[in-house]
Amino acid sequence: MDFNVDITVDMFRALSVLVILWYFWFRYKRRKLNELAARIPAFPGLFLFMGAFQFAHNTSDWLTNPEDTEFVLKNCLEKEDLVTFLKSIVGNASAFAPVSQWIYRRKILAPTFSPKTIFSYMDMVSDESLELVKKLSLDNRIGNGPFSIWKYVSTYTLSSLCATALGLKLSLQDSDVPVIKAVLDIFKLLTNRMVHLWLWPDWLYRRTSQYAEYKKSIGILYGLTDEILKNKRDEICQSDDICNPGANKTQCFLDHLLEGKSNDGSGLTDVEIRDEISLFLLAGTDTSAIAICNTLKLFGKYPEVQEKIYAELISVLGDSDRPLHKNDLKELKYMNRVVKESLRLYPPVPIIVRKTKKEITLPSGTTLPNKTGIIIFIWGVNRDPNYWGPNANCFDPDRFLSPNTNLLTTFSLGPRNCVGYQFAFIVIKVALVEIVRRYKVVGEREDSNIPKINSTFSIMLRDRDGYEISLEER
Ligand code: HEM
Ligand SMILES: *[C@@H]1O[C@H](CO)[C@@H](O)[C@H](O)[C@H]1NC(C)=O
Ligand SMILES: *[C@@H]1O[C@H](CO)[C@@H](O)[C@H](O)[C@H]1NC(C)=O
Ligand SMILES: *[C@@H]1O[C@H](CO)[C@@H](O)[C@H](O)[C@H]1NC(C)=O
Ligand SMILES: *[C@@H]1O[C@H](CO)[C@@H](O)[C@H](O)[C@H]1NC(C)=O
Ligand SMILES: *[C@@H]1O[C@H](CO)[C@@H](O)[C@H](O)[C@H]1NC(C)=O
Repeated sequence: MDFNVDITVDMFRALSVLVILWYFWFRYKRRKLNELAARIPAFPGLFLFMGAFQFAHNTSDWLTNPEDTEFVLKNCLEKEDLVTFLKSIVGNASAFAPVSQWIYRRKILAPTFSPKTIFSYMDMVSDESLELVKKLSLDNRIGNGPFSIWKYVSTYTLSSLCATALGLKLSLQDSDVPVIKAVLDIFKLLTNRMVHLWLWPDWLYRRTSQYAEYKKSIGILYGLTDEILKNKRDEICQSDDICNPGANKTQCFLDHLLEGKSNDGSGLTDVEIRDEISLFLLAGTDTSAIAICNTLKLFGKYPEVQEKIYAELISVLGDSDRPLHKNDLKELKYMNRVVKESLRLYPPVPIIVRKTKKEITLPSGTTLPNKTGIIIFIWGVNRDPNYWGPNANCFDPDRFLSPNTNLLTTFSLGPRNCVGYQFAFIVIKVALVEIVRRYKVVGEREDSNIPKINSTFSIMLRDRDGYEISLEER
């Protein structure tokens, strides 16, 4: 055995001891969080990732206190640089851009989702929801036992987003859509890479079999993005406004993107436009679909909640089968609380990051120096007993009737919150209404008022089994 190997072995031993020590210290410091996270099966891997991340970026402890979180989200708009491979898909698109660029992007995005504009999308979303229930019935899913509803719902959220903001009508419910699976695979592969530290270096990752799969999925995503862009450019040539009928042409997201200016006054490049559209597809499809599916699961667990929603629907819509109008949504107050409670307990995006640009002192008294990375554990924030009360883990839609329930962090808060959140609420509620007015959702009843959805972390927090439920005719 030669000298070099000995050194390597020793170094390896020393490193292992360090890693193990650090791991136990890390577990000890986060024992409360670990308790929270123990409910979510894939979190150990995630914790390891976040530990490495925390180590590399000198971040603060995870935030789970709603008041501190609100303060940070309103005062620190800069994002901590995530590992480059997470950024590589959508480049400098709004969600990841440094503040200096983000300001200009946000100006372009905001009008697309102003309340006036999104309500003009309502009829289109309604149409897509009818396609959804039609497809469920065509596939003989009604009264035929449990099945995974994921594919149907995510197809619906994708086609709603395309038909409205992206101006492309896809007749998706006719067949399986490659991009749905591609998006799911991208999140899965990214998560797998995140929790396996040795897959981080690009040169190594390129040699794995996963890489080919990853490349293929990204290709499918970009394919749709290019189709959307081409569709738009053709349409500009014909100067027609199929993009957003009924509303003003200039309200369309793509028009804004094509006319938008970045920080140096020039227009966005093709790559920048493509990145922004890809981000939309990634940020807007699975998130809303997860929210809808979680709520359906909760309907199965708590049939009395479902019946109360049905009764409210009947009181607003009577027995007509007309599509929903925008004014109906305001009347569905109980439904609104149920959706919020579902989003509180199961935030589709469980973790976000920020970074300080100067020394700040949090309301709780902690002072964070300049350039500290901050990890916000939304899952924990939404279940903090100091804010939500001792029954924070219980499913109780009526908690939103009491004051001090404004800090729902699911869509983040402050100027850099989710730009699509009002749109997401519409997409979620419309689908739930169209399903519940026709069908009864049946699942495993839950006796305890602490619901258990077997969630896993795949960038987003989603059900392990693809949301198996049954539907029965009403
Ligand atoms: C239930 C559904 C959704 C959830 C839970 C959700 C959640 C979030 C969260 C937590 C952020 C991060 C903000 C931060 O880092 O502080 C975000 C940002 C964003 N979301 Fe959503 N989102 C949803 C739906 C949508 C939809 C439907 C769209 C678009 C069509 C969308 C587009 C965006 C964009 C563009 C950003 C980046 C905003 C910026 O940095 O200025 N999201 N979302
Ligand atoms: C890392 O963060 C701690 C507190 O969060 C701070 O005291 C320390 O100065 C930071 N180190 C560097 C190198 O920024
Ligand atoms: C993002 O912006 C930074 C700073 O302007 C630039 O250096 C970088 O190349 C950009 N990244 C991508 C992927 O466009
Ligand atoms: C559409 O735009 C024109 C001018 O660009 C404006 O006068 C009109 O009020 C707008 N209509 C709507 C419905 O926003
Ligand atoms: C914080 O750090 C950044 C980056 O080094 C620097 O540009 C900025 O001036 C610092 N802010 C303060 C208030 O020291
Ligand atoms: C959740 O999933 C894990 C892994 O598939 C399984 O072992 C466990 O029994 C499931 N728990 C419930 C409550 O379904």
